[in-house]
Amino acid sequence: MKRIEFHDREKETKDIHAILDSRPTLITFIYGPINSGKTELITHTIEELPDDYVVFYINLRTKFLTSYDDFIESLFEMEMESEATKRKRKETLAELVSSVTKVAGIPITKEFMEYVFKDKKPKNAFSYIIKLFEEVKAAGKQPVLILDELQKIGDVKVNGFLIYELFNFFIDLTKELHLAHVFVITSDSRFIEHVHSKAMLEGRCRYLLVDDFDERTTMDFLDRYNFSDEEKSVAWDYCGGKPVCLVELVNAKINRKDVESEAKKFLKIRTSQILSIFDEIALGKIEYSEKALIGEFKNFEKEELVQYDKVNKEKIFLVERNVLFIDPTQRTIKPQSRLNLLAIREVMKDA
Ligand SMILES: Nc1ncnc2c1ncn2[C@@H]1O[C@H](COP(=O)(O)OP(=O)(O)OP(=O)(O)O)[C@@H](O)[C@H]1O
Ligand SMILES: [Mg+2]
Repeated sequence: MKRIEFHDREKETKDIHAILDSRPTLITFIYGPINSGKTELITHTIEELPDDYVVFYINLRTKFLTSYDDFIESLFEMEMESEATKRKRKETLAELVSSVTKVAGIPITKEFMEYVFKDKKPKNAFSYIIKLFEEVKAAGKQPVLILDELQKIGDVKVNGFLIYELFNFFIDLTKELHLAHVFVITSDSRFIEHVHSKAMLEGRCRYLLVDDFDERTTMDFLDRYNFSDEEKSVAWDYCGGKPVCLVELVNAKINRKDVESEAKKFLKIRTSQILSIFDEIALGKIEYSEKALIGEFKNFEKEELVQYDKVNKEKIFLVERNVLFIDPTQRTIKPQSRLNLLAIREVMKDA
């Protein structure tokens, strides 16, 4: 099967490189609608980095987080004694650092792990990470810490303060110690809203939006796969610049399927999913009024993006259902994708 190559992201890549080139001072929050290509962008950028950056990339998506211990464990990669090679077990931080590869969790031994879990305080884990990063620095390299899907720790209750302690730790790594670059990635706009309103982060972080491709980028992408003008126009109409949707259409074309009928299928599915919200209301499974939700949809009958004054529970609900995306830094709200916009308009036809 033809592999779909990483496309463009010139501006975002440049922004990230500019950050990496300077001394760590601020935490960088990378955010954007779902499936806009945030993870793809960061993983691609990491692969291309020179060897003098040591990147610790942790994606919480695949981790099962129900407790504080789960979260701490998810940060670390236990160093195993290799039976096959009978290599000497790594014992010191310097030995651990010497083995780190480009993309991995934070290496740790069983002995250090015991220290980290001692008295169940994040402080031990954080001081271990600081010592390890200092070791990386001593080896002449720059540590970079990346946490993807950080909003998942919202589910973890640690005396209610884990997120607070974590942000303080990030501030320590950046503004205070200038030790490591810290990137936090999320597609949860409620999490960004939470972060945005936190006084402790004021002046200590920056936001980098990774949105769907713009029209020019989308056209260039489709040109690579020999889309005709007509197919390009269908793709833009239905998928906008949502990479994951475009990739589906490219695959459809590669498999000699009709691009337009595939795109129509996507829209049918999304419309039916949104309509099922009203079924849930009718069945009493959720307590929102149909009228209030339709009121939110009305905003997008003519517009694609609107400014909001205040969030309300309906907006939040539609954000949680991945229908809408809010950007709290700009106070704007829009459908999560072009497909969602079209589906909303389909729903409105019968409303
Ligand atoms: N720049 C790109 N070039 C080519 N394909 C891309 C690009 N960005 C994203 N994609 C495609 O879109 C898919 C979704 O991207 P990705 O998982 O990075 O999105 P995301 O924003 O991290 O999603 P989520 O909101 O779920 O975290 C990728 O698996 C890839 O197929
Ligand atoms: Mg992602």
